[in-house]
Amino acid sequence: MFFTVSDEVSNDVRRNLYGRRGSRLRGGKRITFDSRRDRYAALPEDTPPGSLTRAAIFGEDMRALWLEVGFGAGEHLVAQARANPGVGLIGCEHYLDAVASCFSKIEADAVPNVRVHHGDARDLMDALPEGSVERAFLLYPDPWPKARHHKRRFISDENLDAFARLLADGAHLRVASDTPDYIEWTREHLARRTDFTLVSDTGEAWADWPGTRYEAKALREDRVPHYLTYARAPR
Ligand SMILES: C[S@@+](CC[C@H](N)C(=O)[O-])C[C@H]1O[C@@H](n2cnc3c(N)ncnc32)[C@H](O)[C@@H]1O
Repeated sequence: MFFTVSDEVSNDVRRNLYGRRGSRLRGGKRITFDSRRDRYAALPEDTPPGSLTRAAIFGEDMRALWLEVGFGAGEHLVAQARANPGVGLIGCEHYLDAVASCFSKIEADAVPNVRVHHGDARDLMDALPEGSVERAFLLYPDPWPKARHHKRRFISDENLDAFARLLADGAHLRVASDTPDYIEWTREHLARRTDFTLVSDTGEAWADWPGTRYEAKALREDRVPHYLTYARAPR
């Protein structure tokens, strides 16, 4: 079975999707959201699993497909799209207000190479073909600091299986966090896999790093960012 937008509630139950879903949008934000939703949608309804190719999303113009999970208000997603005009960027975010903010940024910057899935990242990931993604970003995932909530963390064996399926051989998975325990959690989950190899584990941001809103807040509050890069091992 494949889930569509109208199935979002039951989908959330199946997926155990946690965190803020967003408020009811009002005024200009509602108008922006409604008028852009179809134009920027990455995942058409009733898309069969594994069938959402780069060409289906962007046509033949893009040389690669990059994926960002949980893009927040979209600063990083839109900055990467602007810096990499030959790459198609697809982002997922289930917080409605954040998606509306991202639409405004796409519009303001007039970037043609971004598409957005408003909903659970795992539905978009399921729709992508094996080996179709050249780079993936998981930036400041919700930390879920309490031990009893760790099972809600996006880094999990199941989600790493999904990343391993959709990433091309050699493609990088970038993870950033300001939560030392989440960094350690990520290291432990990736260390026991043979389908990823560690590329870098550092306090130095990537050379092309535009930052994110959550990172700016972390720095203001004296938390220390850390950056992990893994490569998909050859199949
Ligand atoms: C802590 S925020 C970080 C946002 C952004 N990456 C940044 O650095 O500013 C984590 C985001 O991930 C989103 N998120 C968490 N789980 C998700 C999922 N399964 N699918 C889509 N978005 C998700 C949340 O809604 C939230 O906006």
